[in-house]
Amino acid sequence: MWRVGANGPPMAALTAAISSTPAAPSPAPGARRRGFSVVRCSSAADERRALFSRIAPIYDHLNDVLSLGQHRTWKRICVSWSRAKRGDRVLDLCCGSGDLAFLLSQKVGLDGEVMAVDFSSQQLQTAANRQDQRWKPCYKNIKWIEGDALDLPFTDCYFDAVTVGYGLRNVVDKSKAMQEIFRVLKPGSRASILDFNKSSSLFTTSLQSWMIDNVVVPLASGYGLTEEYKYLKSSISQYLTGEELEKLVQEAGFSAAKHYELGGGLMGNLVATR
Ligand SMILES: C[S@@+](CC[C@H](N)C(=O)[O-])C[C@H]1O[C@@H](n2cnc3c(N)ncnc32)[C@H](O)[C@@H]1O
Repeated sequence: MWRVGANGPPMAALTAAISSTPAAPSPAPGARRRGFSVVRCSSAADERRALFSRIAPIYDHLNDVLSLGQHRTWKRICVSWSRAKRGDRVLDLCCGSGDLAFLLSQKVGLDGEVMAVDFSSQQLQTAANRQDQRWKPCYKNIKWIEGDALDLPFTDCYFDAVTVGYGLRNVVDKSKAMQEIFRVLKPGSRASILDFNKSSSLFTTSLQSWMIDNVVVPLASGYGLTEEYKYLKSSISQYLTGEELEKLVQEAGFSAAKHYELGGGLMGNLVATR
């Protein structure tokens, strides 16, 4: 795992490591040379980072139980809509334990490269452990990088596609995150962003709210994580509707944006083209 932070290697070391791997034949390094950079976060972001670190040990298990396995389908859709293809260099931002990064890895193959970024070292450790336990050769093309979505350690126009799964909602400054995604994407390429849908339908909002209060939080309480999962409800209510997300990404410079509802309107996937 590469840590772009106080205790990690300087950016030059990250650059050298990335460009020296067999999966990255291109000599052009993607890491921005900024000396000894630090993952500095606001206190609000620090609280979120701590929250995701606390839930890391049970995150995957709860995802399976709470969505009855359906999150796997939504993640496949998100990756498919990114249009990542063999040989591409792609970014999975807010990668957590790596579900989308593993799917991207299969799409781009051993000729491609997957950079998976998150600011929680515990989530990245889980992802790296899962990579060790898996057998597909292509998974060697994934690099786990500790970094901030608001200050990505990559040069401009570096990626052929970007995915974000359940991450944008948790980022403190969503507009800045979209500007960063825009910056690192190549012109004409896509970002595919999956998350809970902040629906404008009263029925969907009530159902979402009922499920969080009566299923999600009680289940998480069994693991001592009541407050952590109560945060889900407030994060959805403070998130953006599909229409607002389309506006946000257009303001960040994207030429096209379309938000699609999934899972009966409970989830949403935004596709933005640079
Ligand atoms: C709900 S998890 C999603 C993980 C994974 N993408 C998935 O779909 O299962 C959200 C992730 O976003 C990460 N995150 C939130 N804000 C971030 C930021 N500013 N920079 C990097 N990662 C961030 C958290 O650490 C957490 O792992």
